[in-house]
Amino acid sequence: MRDLATLTRQALDEVAASATLAALEEVRIRWLGKKGLLTDYLKSLGELPAADRPIAGAQINAAKTQVQSAIGVAQDALESASIEAKLVAGRIDVTLSGRGEARGSVHPVTRARLRIERIFRHSGFEVAAGPEIEDDFHNFKALNIPADHPARAMHDTFYFPDGRLLRTHTSPVQIRELKKGRLPLAMIMPGRVYRCDYDMTHSPMFHQVEGLVVDENVSFANLKATLEGFLRAFFERDLKMRLRPSYFPFTEPSAEVDMSCAFCDGAGCRVCKHTGWLEIAGCGMVHPHVFAAAGVDGERYTGYAFGMGIERLAMLRYGVSDLRLFFESDLRFLKQFGAV
Ligand code: FA5
Ligand code: MG
Repeated sequence: MRDLATLTRQALDEVAASATLAALEEVRIRWLGKKGLLTDYLKSLGELPAADRPIAGAQINAAKTQVQSAIGVAQDALESASIEAKLVAGRIDVTLSGRGEARGSVHPVTRARLRIERIFRHSGFEVAAGPEIEDDFHNFKALNIPADHPARAMHDTFYFPDGRLLRTHTSPVQIRELKKGRLPLAMIMPGRVYRCDYDMTHSPMFHQVEGLVVDENVSFANLKATLEGFLRAFFERDLKMRLRPSYFPFTEPSAEVDMSCAFCDGAGCRVCKHTGWLEIAGCGMVHPHVFAAAGVDGERYTGYAFGMGIERLAMLRYGVSDLRLFFESDLRFLKQFGAV
C-alpha cells in the first residue's frame, strides 16, 4: 500500500503537468484506462490474502477517484483557457488601418447648405429647424392659407391618412419660432420639403432655407439688401439678381427672386427655359395675419421673410444643369465635390 501512495502522487503530478487537453487524455488512459496502471493495481488484489482485500480495494478506489477528480478539474481549466485563447485571437484590432479606403465627399446640397449657414451666421442670424411632418395649422392655416384657399393647389401636398402632411415649404418653421415669443429675431431655417413635382428644375423632395427677421422698423429695403449681400457672398461672382412682384398669402408685398442664368449668362437656354433667369426664392414682408396667428404684436413689429431653394443655388454655383443629378447617387457625379 506504500506503493499506492507513491503511484497516486505520480499520477497527480502528471495531471498537473499536462499542458493540453490531448496530453491530459493520455495521462487519463495511462492511469485509469482499461489497461491503466491503477486499474492493473486493482486487478492485482487477487494476489492478496482474502482478509486484506476489502481495505486495499477501498484504498485503490479512493485513489482512482482522487485522480479522476483531479483530471476533471484540469480539464475544465484547460477548456476555458482554450476558449479564452480563441477569443483573444479573434479580437478585431480597431487601430489597424482599413484596406482600400477612399476619402468621401460632402454632398453638393449639404455643401451648399453649410455655405449658406456660414454666411448668415456671420451676419448674426441664428439657425433653427422644424419637423418635416407637419400639421395643417403650421403648414397652411397660420400662414394665411385657409382650407378653401386656391394657393393650396400650388403646393401639390403629400398627405397622411390622419390629415398630417409632409411640409411643402420651410415657412411653417416661421410660425414655430414666432410662437416662442423671443423678439427681435433674425434666423434661417434650412431643411427638406416635399412636393408632388418632377422635372429638370423640380424634384419631389428638395431643400429650402427659410429666412425671417422681425424687429421694430424692419423694411423691404432691409430684405433686398440682405438678399443681395447674401448672393454676392454665396456666388463670389457677378450674377444679376432681380425682384419680380409676386404673391404669397403669408407676405405682403411679395416678390420672387431671380438670378441671371449661370449656364447661358442670361442669353437663354434649356435650364432657364430660355428666359435668361432662374427663380431661386420667394420673399416679402410678413403678413399681419401671420403675426396674429403666432401671437406677435403686429402694431409694434414688422418683419421680412424669404424661402430659397438650396438645389437651385447649388445648381448655379456648381454648374449643375439638371437638378435630378443631385438625387441619383451617381458616384461619378458626387466625387467631383470635395470636402467643405
Ligand atoms: C415657397 O415655398 C415660399 N414658402 C417661399 C417664401 C418664404 C415666400 C417666405 C415668402 C416668404 P416657392 O414655392 O416659390 O415658395 O418655393 C421657393 C423656392 O424653392 C423656389 O424659388 C425654388 O427655388 C425652390 N423650389 C420650389 N419648388 C421646387 C422643386 N420642386 N424642386 C426644387 N426646388 C424648388
Ligand atoms: Mg415660386
